[in-house]
Amino acid sequence: MRSLFLRSLAGPQRAFAQPYTFQKASFQTVSSVHSSDEHPRVLITGGLGQLGTGLARQLRTTFGTDNVILSDIIRPDRDILNNGPFIFADILDFKNLQEIVVSHRIDWLVHFSALLSAVGENNVPLAIRVNIEGLHNVMELAKQYHLKLFVPSTIGAFGPESPRNPTPNLTIQRPKTIYGVSKVHAELLGEYYQKRFGLDFRSLRFPGIISYDSNPGGGTTDYAVQIFHDALTSGKHTCYLNPDTRLPMMYIDDCLRSLTEIMMAPKEKLSIRTYNVAAMSFTPNELFAAVKKRVPHLEIEYKVDGRQKIADSWPQVFDDSQARGDWGWEHKFGIQELVDTMIDALIPIYENQRVASEAKINHQ
Ligand SMILES: NC(=O)c1ccc[n+]([C@@H]2O[C@H](COP(=O)([O-])OP(=O)(O)OC[C@H]3O[C@@H](n4cnc5c(N)ncnc54)[C@H](O)[C@@H]3O)[C@@H](O)[C@H]2O)c1
Repeated sequence: MRSLFLRSLAGPQRAFAQPYTFQKASFQTVSSVHSSDEHPRVLITGGLGQLGTGLARQLRTTFGTDNVILSDIIRPDRDILNNGPFIFADILDFKNLQEIVVSHRIDWLVHFSALLSAVGENNVPLAIRVNIEGLHNVMELAKQYHLKLFVPSTIGAFGPESPRNPTPNLTIQRPKTIYGVSKVHAELLGEYYQKRFGLDFRSLRFPGIISYDSNPGGGTTDYAVQIFHDALTSGKHTCYLNPDTRLPMMYIDDCLRSLTEIMMAPKEKLSIRTYNVAAMSFTPNELFAAVKKRVPHLEIEYKVDGRQKIADSWPQVFDDSQARGDWGWEHKFGIQELVDTMIDALIPIYENQRVASEAKINHQ
């Protein structure tokens, strides 16, 4: 649904249009522009995707609700508005971003807006606009207003020429997707701005992220979320990757904690500005076997599509020893903890849905 929406933005009339448009910011949903100065004020771009709402929840418990502003170009659910400040922000609209940063006295920028790997391949011009032009806006903004900037990178920033098992922090990066190309560009530009202008740029290369309460946004690792939903609904999962395709993965709690930890890490601890972070690596076959232990009737069939080619060019096992050495990164979730957490969280959700739909039928 989301990718359809993004595709609809991509008409030829929009492709490569000027990013510096003059559109008024809409502040009406922000509950307060005042805060204590003890905590940083954080703006999250692309915040309604898989990672943003969880990060906002986590940062709000530490920094206070009003100090963390979610933003996106899609319509928020009522829950989102009830849980804290939300604002419209198009990453391609530089003037509007300036206005937000100034009016809300932003200190940290977490830049999540992006088109992920599979979606990006289906719409290269839009991926270039959002992932590259959008990044240019963010980089300039962070430089102008001295913001601490986090831009996530990915296992997709590597390519078939990189060593794949394990993939070190510093190695050949020749990605073959526009997503990967845009992420290498972000890493290099961030490091350049840090050295040239003193910008406090920080980046982590995330593996495929798995979560139960937010949907993946069209990446190559999405199967590892879908299989849990299928296990508890139809009982049958159709996997678009070969059974032995090994990829690095991470549970969302580890991902969000790694982000918070690198943002909080003292500068002196960071010997570089872009780190691999890892937790586990598995194949569809191994994940299927682990889920089947909890849901014995689960079946799987394999119908490989274009995402296989992308996966075949990505790391199989990620070497994150530099993150562990420099700022003490440690993952908490391996495959067993992941499977148990996902299943235990999703069972009551689907049970509540079933009860609600039965009640609705009985009421009719
Ligand atoms: N989810 C993963 O497995 C994963 C893995 C590695 C890296 N990452 C990176 O983490 C970040 C967040 O990932 P995610 O999974 O939440 O992505 P997602 O696709 O779920 O969400 C991206 C958000 O960006 C928004 N967006 C698109 N165009 C925009 C624009 N012009 N202005 C403002 N917002 C716009 C979309 O509406 C969407 O809500 C991305 O940069 C991604 O590359 C994610």
